[in-house]
Amino acid sequence: MAAHGMTSIETDGDSIKIVNQLLLPHTTEWIEVNTVEEAHDAIKSMKIRGAPAIASLAALSLASHLSRALKSSPPPDFLASPESLRAHVEPMLAFLYTARPTAVNLGAATRRLTKTLHASIAEGKNVRAVAEDLIAEGRKVADEDVGRNKQMSKNGGEWLIEQVKARGGTGEGLNILTVCNTGSLATSGYGTALGLITYLHETGKLNKAYYTQSTPYHQGSRLTALELQTLKIPSVMICDTMVGSLFQHHDIHAVVVGADRIVRNGDTANKIGTYNAAVLAARHKIPFIVIGPVSTVDLDVADGSGIPIEHRPPIEACVVRGALYPFSVNAQGQKEQAAVMITPEGLEGVYNPSFDVTPAELISAVVTEKGVAVKKEGEKEFDLSGVV
Ligand code: MRU
Repeated sequence: MAAHGMTSIETDGDSIKIVNQLLLPHTTEWIEVNTVEEAHDAIKSMKIRGAPAIASLAALSLASHLSRALKSSPPPDFLASPESLRAHVEPMLAFLYTARPTAVNLGAATRRLTKTLHASIAEGKNVRAVAEDLIAEGRKVADEDVGRNKQMSKNGGEWLIEQVKARGGTGEGLNILTVCNTGSLATSGYGTALGLITYLHETGKLNKAYYTQSTPYHQGSRLTALELQTLKIPSVMICDTMVGSLFQHHDIHAVVVGADRIVRNGDTANKIGTYNAAVLAARHKIPFIVIGPVSTVDLDVADGSGIPIEHRPPIEACVVRGALYPFSVNAQGQKEQAAVMITPEGLEGVYNPSFDVTPAELISAVVTEKGVAVKKEGEKEFDLSGVV
């Protein structure tokens, strides 16, 4: 366990272990990730998920690969020269980037490592020094996540308290709704939206955290539930269909969500169902806050229409995890949680986008570790230049 609840990745530098999030909350299985290919598979199959966490694993897997190579005797061929190292590493980074398309943090991490590679070579460093620079940068991607999560959580928490006070509230006893899982499991620690909730709890301002189940993957009911329980934060789970009812019958002070990609005008891709919550929040005049690290902001894309949306396999929307027969063993002899089919076999039409895009118009604030952006009076889009 990390200082703040759960943890998704453990590493001593060379060896990396991740908790298999497909099996949580009932089974805590640690899996070794020994190669870049295994990291790619773990991200694609969602054994690890959450935009910052997948970027951390991708970066750490490259660092571990190079660190092991530097220690091996005889050294592998790709350590013959900076150019051979470059020819080896570039396709690996490109491959890691293809694991999941919507979360831009993954691309930000692979671009950052590519930049380090090119800069070190341009400086005329020898192959060992170039590899060492990549290892250091890869580890930095993961290490710096926790500190910035705490900073953005404080930024967003303080902003929200001021907003509530400006509307005549006390800024205490806050009820917050969140979507998906954005805590320590989805990051390297503390979390983004769940970090903000944790900050409010730690400062005595939170009454209750509400969270949606976040079907079909149940990141809310499986992972957020577990994290909130571990952190002893008072919380209430709701089904995804209950957001409107919650707003009609309870005093909710804000909706706070993480992000997989925030583009130049503030349009934001996040877990499917986020847009529904934003529409309902606007109707009920509830502040809607998006929070994520600067690496989630993609200034190269002008608006939400340019965000690639990942569609998951139809079968993932046709099953729930089984309670009656909790485990089975698959053809490879691995333990798997049995799934119960909730549709007829062979259903032809299944729509299963993993994310939706919430237009900037429906977002009250975009929070990063650098600060809080709000729209100018009468404007529908953000100028994010102050928070990136
Ligand atoms: O499909 P997932 O579980 O990777 O989706 C995760 C989310 O949508 C999170 O809200 C987002 O990555 C932010 S995590 C801090």
